[in-house]
Amino acid sequence: MVQHRLERFAEWVGREHIDFAFLSDPKNVFYFTGFKCDPHERLLGLFIIPGKTPFLVCPNMEVTRAEEAGWTSEIIGYDDDQNPWHLIQKALAGRGISRKVTVAIETETLSFAKAEQLRALFDDVRFVSSEEAILAQRLIKGPDELEHLKKAAELADFAINIGKNAIKKGKTELALVAEIEYEVKKRGAEGMSFATTVLTGPKSALPHGTPNDRQIREGDFVLFDLGVVVNGYCSDITRTFVYKHASKEQEAIYEAVRKANEAAIQSAKPGVRIGDVDLAARQVIQDAGFGDYFTHRVGHGLGLDIHEAPSMNSQNTALLKAGMVFTIEPGIYLPEVGGVRIEDDVYLDETGPLVLTSFPKELQIIE
Ligand code: GLY
Ligand code: MN
Repeated sequence: MVQHRLERFAEWVGREHIDFAFLSDPKNVFYFTGFKCDPHERLLGLFIIPGKTPFLVCPNMEVTRAEEAGWTSEIIGYDDDQNPWHLIQKALAGRGISRKVTVAIETETLSFAKAEQLRALFDDVRFVSSEEAILAQRLIKGPDELEHLKKAAELADFAINIGKNAIKKGKTELALVAEIEYEVKKRGAEGMSFATTVLTGPKSALPHGTPNDRQIREGDFVLFDLGVVVNGYCSDITRTFVYKHASKEQEAIYEAVRKANEAAIQSAKPGVRIGDVDLAARQVIQDAGFGDYFTHRVGHGLGLDIHEAPSMNSQNTALLKAGMVFTIEPGIYLPEVGGVRIEDDVYLDETGPLVLTSFPKELQIIE
């Protein structure tokens, strides 16, 4: 599977008359090699050269893991006191690449410093972007990727249940975060997709608020936004509860968000304009009178990265395709009152949406 991905990408490199592609984003390296590595500031590099054997560059201390991950082509390891760029120059020259080159790089993530180090190896370098070609491959998920995403979504459902059962008067947001993360890691999660978010009371009106020592009070919204990583693949779920008693206003915004979430999911089919999925949710929220308080797009693509293509925004004219995976997460945020967001992960198959997260969505008042 990984080999097939690499071959497809190498074909693109050759077709575009690019001398080689240099990939160093750990997510892309994992996608094309099966080797998961966080090198911190050190260099991790995958060099793909049309018609020649690719090679991987990583710290020497990671070489065994790269081999164990199934990488059978050349590995150039380097020590912390060595300059890997000289080794790279030699390996490329051995493949007939020197002086004047066209190189495909990850324009979104490659640091300027590393691009300059690469440039210094040659007399004349033209950089082109590999982003679109990689995006086109990562956009459509294969059966193995779907399995990982399903498991990540199952664990996200489990995590929400832990959070729900832990809601108690006086408990802080950070205590809830700690309880959730402890339980999901005990159950096999390799990590969280992003910093677990628990927001209570008026703080739930901040779509990306930060949990702190605020304690739960009666009448609070309690919003959980979290995700779990399984085999490198992320889930992302949001559920919002009310503690003890809900006001009419809280019930109204909850129902509007729940209906918006369902409308957007139902609208998602292959061939539908992506922007129309956003608009399906937005229309429900506008009709309920809260249009000014839905302040972000309806969702984002999901995979090795927690946010990846496609962007589910109202202006996206691209069409949905089978194999895409994305979130649907409308929200209403009333300043000083609180906010509600309901988020699911959706895989699109030929017939329509398959919702991977399954935690119930009707309003739950926690006693
Ligand atoms: N879960 C955070 C976000 O989707 O923005
Ligand atoms: Mn999300």
